[in-house]
Amino acid sequence: MSDEQLKKISLDELKPGMYVHSIAEQRGNIQITSRGKVTSSKVIAQMRKKGIVAVVIDPSKAFTPEPEESTLAEAAVPQQDVSKPASGSANVAFEDELRRATVLHGKGKSLQKRILKSLSKGLPIDISVPKEFTKQLVGSIDRNPNALMCMTQIREKDSYLFEHSLNVAVLLANFGRHLGMQQSEILELAYAGFLHDIGKIKIPDEILHKPGRLTEEEMDVMRKHVEFGLDALREMGIPEHIIKTVGEHHERLDGLGYPLGAKEQDITTWGRMIAIVDTYDAITADRCYKPGMPSQRALQILMKDAPVKYDKTLVEQFVRCVGIYPVGTLVKLNNDRLAMVVEQRADMPLKPKVKAFYSTKNNHYIAPTDIDLAQTAGNIKIESAVKSSDYKIDFNRYFEEKISI
Ligand SMILES: [Fe+2]
Repeated sequence: MSDEQLKKISLDELKPGMYVHSIAEQRGNIQITSRGKVTSSKVIAQMRKKGIVAVVIDPSKAFTPEPEESTLAEAAVPQQDVSKPASGSANVAFEDELRRATVLHGKGKSLQKRILKSLSKGLPIDISVPKEFTKQLVGSIDRNPNALMCMTQIREKDSYLFEHSLNVAVLLANFGRHLGMQQSEILELAYAGFLHDIGKIKIPDEILHKPGRLTEEEMDVMRKHVEFGLDALREMGIPEHIIKTVGEHHERLDGLGYPLGAKEQDITTWGRMIAIVDTYDAITADRCYKPGMPSQRALQILMKDAPVKYDKTLVEQFVRCVGIYPVGTLVKLNNDRLAMVVEQRADMPLKPKVKAFYSTKNNHYIAPTDIDLAQTAGNIKIESAVKSSDYKIDFNRYFEEKISI
């Protein structure tokens, strides 16, 4: 695109479907240099709030925006053929799906809260709601698995109880997809993941949220969350094979898990999968008694504990599924940039596609830039995975407001 074809317009003329090449005029002192697709009128409203009055658009990059409806409709999925194996490639651009995934992620957390609240008050739970939600979740993963995977990296303080089950559902759906499972199986696996820890609501707060190691007696109480969950799921009328999967999430192949102490031959493949995914998310999450470990460390622990506790073949597959730098990981590049991993490359796991958004040299945000590390002829490399807290940046806020523009 030559510069002559770029067009300056006022913000009032900007419409969803246009591509912003650069900001032309802006009030105030904070200069923003965003570029990217205008996916909805919300994006325009955000730009107006930030004092942008005129932009330069690139007409050659115009696109057809999705219809703007309610948040529920935003997350709605097209009809799925559940009899077919899941397809292996993304159908929708990452940025486009990220918008829906952000809505879905918020919905998933509030649905978890609602279910747990109803359960603690002994109120009935309409199971069609979590079932429909799981369909939407799998639909997003079908369109582009990287968007919801990214969202699993967004952790809010004191939200582990709600985020963990949602993350386990997302990771299980991705894992099932990676293994080439049928769409109907992926839906059920994700459903089991979403419901697997609901029994924790019956555990006293002083044990559930204890900011330290549990005593053996407290552990005995904590272990009861599985049975509490199974009772609740039976009352809700959840199918028995899903209940079985939930019941196996703390079983281990050596028979030292709980509640049954079931051994290798008695634990199903789905039970082995949920055990791996549950452990992975628990290790990587920040908890009141420990900071989250990097993904690489969690995968090492799983590898070390296989085949004694975990199914070795499945752990190896899971490592391939999430990759060395899972989508959503924050990485420091050797060009003084922080970036987020947005796409894996199965053939080159150390060279994913990333979105650079922060300069560590000048300590400020930069316009998000896509970099395919496999295409930079070895010049730009990942130095290490990092935590946003290391740089005192509010990654969650930035992620939600800016990175999807
Ligand atoms: Fe659990």
